Amino acid sequence: MPWPADLGPVICVVGARPNFMKMAPILRAFADHRPALPALLVHTGQHYDRDMNDRLFSDLRLPHPDINLEVGSATHAVQTAAVMQRFEPVLDERRPSCVLVVGDVNSTLACALVCAKKDVPVVHVEAGLRSHDRAMPEEINRVLTDQIADRLYTTERSALANLTREGVAEQRVCFVGNVMIDSLLANRQLAHAPAKTLQAVGVDPALIDDRRGYAVVTLHRPSNVDRAETLQALLAVLREVSESVPLIFAMHPRTRANVERFRLGDLLSSPRIVLLPPQGYLEMLGLLAGARLVLSDSGGLQEESTALGVPCLTIRENTERPITIEQGTNTLVGANPQAIRQGVHEILSGAGKSGRIPEFWDGRAAQRIAADLATWLLARHAQRAG
Ligand code: UD1
Repeated sequence: MPWPADLGPVICVVGARPNFMKMAPILRAFADHRPALPALLVHTGQHYDRDMNDRLFSDLRLPHPDINLEVGSATHAVQTAAVMQRFEPVLDERRPSCVLVVGDVNSTLACALVCAKKDVPVVHVEAGLRSHDRAMPEEINRVLTDQIADRLYTTERSALANLTREGVAEQRVCFVGNVMIDSLLANRQLAHAPAKTLQAVGVDPALIDDRRGYAVVTLHRPSNVDRAETLQALLAVLREVSESVPLIFAMHPRTRANVERFRLGDLLSSPRIVLLPPQGYLEMLGLLAGARLVLSDSGGLQEESTALGVPCLTIRENTERPITIEQGTNTLVGANPQAIRQGVHEILSGAGKSGRIPEFWDGRAAQRIAADLATWLLARHAQRAG
C-alpha cells in the first residue's frame, strides 16, 4: 500500500550535534519501511561549523538538509525565538503530517512549541528522561517538549514513570530503545583507529601505548565550564589524572573559549594531555571504543560508553539516564576532585564497572519508531477522513 497522497511528509528536525546521531538511523528506517515514510529534513542551524556540524553529517551519511533555518548562536531566548519565527512558515508551506524532534536541545523545544500552536502533531524521540535539575537548560526543554508531544518514544523504562508523574497519558508513550545506539552499532566497524586520529593531528600514537591505556575527556556543560573557579578546579584534577593515564581531550568551542578567557591554558599544557577540536563521529567512536575510561559531562557519552562496555565517570551531580548507572558502566562523580581521583584510581586498578547492555539497545530502535509511527499516522488519517 503506498503512502496516502494527501498525508504530508514527516518533518524531521535537527539543530545541534547530539541530534545528528539520533536522526540518521530514523531517516534510514523511514526510507526502508513499507510503505516508505516521506521525510523532510530541517536543520535549524543551531550548530553550524565544520567540527560541530559538517564532519558529523558526512560521517553519519546524513542527507543534506532540505531546509536550513541558519539561526546560529545566541542567548537561549534569542536562539529559541529565531528558530520559532523561521520554522513557522515551513509548516505553512510544507503541511507535514507531523513533526519529529529528538533529544533536548533548544531547537527541539522551539520547533515543538510552534507545532503545538498550529495543531501539527509533535513526535518526541528520547522522551521522558529527567535529571530533576531545573537549572539545566536541557531539563526545561525535555519537560516542556514532552507536555506538547502527541507521540513519545522512550529509550529506557524509567522514562514512562517520569511521564505519568507529569500527567502524560500512557497510551501516548511507546518504549522503543535507543536510536543513538542504533548509530553506534551501525558504525562500529567503520570507526577510525585511535592511532590514526592522533597521527592526523601530528601526535605520536606511542603516547596511547601506555600500559594503562588512555582516557577520553569531554567537558561542555555551562555548570562546569562557565565559572572560572569550577573550570580551574576541574582542569587541575584532570592534570593530576594525566600523570596516571594519558588524556585525549576533545574540546567543545564553549570550553576552549573559556579556557582562553580565564587564562587556564597552562593547566593543560602537558605531553600527556592531547587537546583535539570536536571530533567527527567515526573518530570519536574509535577513541571511545579503545579507551580505558571516559571522563565527561555529556549526556550521549554516558550511553555510548555503556553500549561499548567502557567505564565512564560523569562529571555531573545527576543524570537523566539512570539506566547507565543501574545497568551500564556509568558512575556520577560530580565536579568533586576527590571523587574524580578515587573513580579513576578504581578503574585503573581494575575495579571499573563492566555493566550490561540495556533492553532494546540493540540497533533496531529506529525500525520500531518507523513501524509504530506509520501505524499511528495512518490510523489518525483514517479517523479524520472518516
Ligand atoms: C548545545 C545543547 C546541549 C548539547 C550541546 C552539544 C542547548 C540548550 N544545549 O549546547 O544540550 O549537549 O549542544 O554540543 O541546546 N559554537 C561554535 N560552533 C557551532 C556551534 C556553537 O563555535 O557550530 C559555540 C558558540 O560560541 C556558541 C557556543 O558554542 O555560543 C554554545 O553553542 P550552543 O548551541 O548555544 O550550546 P552548546 O553549549 O553547544
